[in-house]
Amino acid sequence: MENIDQVLADQPSIQEAILRLTQTFPGAVAFSSSFGQEDQVIADIIWRHALPVRVFTLDTGRLFQETYDLMDLTRARYKQPFEIYFPGTSAVERLVAEKGVNSFYDSVENRKECCFIRKVEPLNRALEGTKVWITGLRSEQSDNRQNMPAIEWDEQRQLYKYNPLIDWSYEQMLAYLDEHNVPFNKLHKKGFISIGCAPCTRAIEPGEHPRAGRWWWEQSQKECGLHSH
Ligand code: ADX
Ligand code: SF4
Repeated sequence: MENIDQVLADQPSIQEAILRLTQTFPGAVAFSSSFGQEDQVIADIIWRHALPVRVFTLDTGRLFQETYDLMDLTRARYKQPFEIYFPGTSAVERLVAEKGVNSFYDSVENRKECCFIRKVEPLNRALEGTKVWITGLRSEQSDNRQNMPAIEWDEQRQLYKYNPLIDWSYEQMLAYLDEHNVPFNKLHKKGFISIGCAPCTRAIEPGEHPRAGRWWWEQSQKECGLHSH
């Protein structure tokens, strides 16, 4: 498309925007869900409106039991297919043989290596052939996400990235989940906001930054490479 911004020019609803994207790029629109609250909103919109979007998740092998429970609950509730991508076996085997199973605590470099093997490489595989990648990013989540537009060209991956909830507030998201009775992760009731892998996520205290529970031992940017600019 010459000017992708046209898709959103008249401020369509999210389902209308996704529909237009699927018409412009038939068979090439994919949504990545981590089963976080944002992602559950988007999955509900996709499946409620029967939008022809491929839905996939990245199972790092280190997720919380509660996240796996939510995967099953979501499957039972919507009866819609989603693909589960796993890390490459030999890459994980090599990593744990060389550095042990918890090398991510030792350095930012090791942590990023684990994130690359368990998330980024499987993501790249999942996105092969995709022209529009839908994510659950919200600008409130971090400084890095503050200035992200709703739709942008991802030069590195050579596709459009559509972030339908980029301007949504946390309260708006909760209201949607409540109104549509969307299933969510039980950990959200236990002080977890942003949920990733179990060894790298912990609950936060009231008033703490929403992403303070991710890689809490690091002073880094707290990104895993899925969304680095
Ligand atoms: S991360 O970069 O810190 O891991 P975050 O958990 O905030 O990302 O999620 C932001 C968006 O990235 C999600 O809405 C989703 O689109 C995508 N994402 C993150 N983790 C996964 C995952 N395990 N599987 C699929 N998509 C994911
Ligand atoms: Fe590995 Fe932790 Fe990154 Fe998950 S979040 S891929 S366990 S470093």
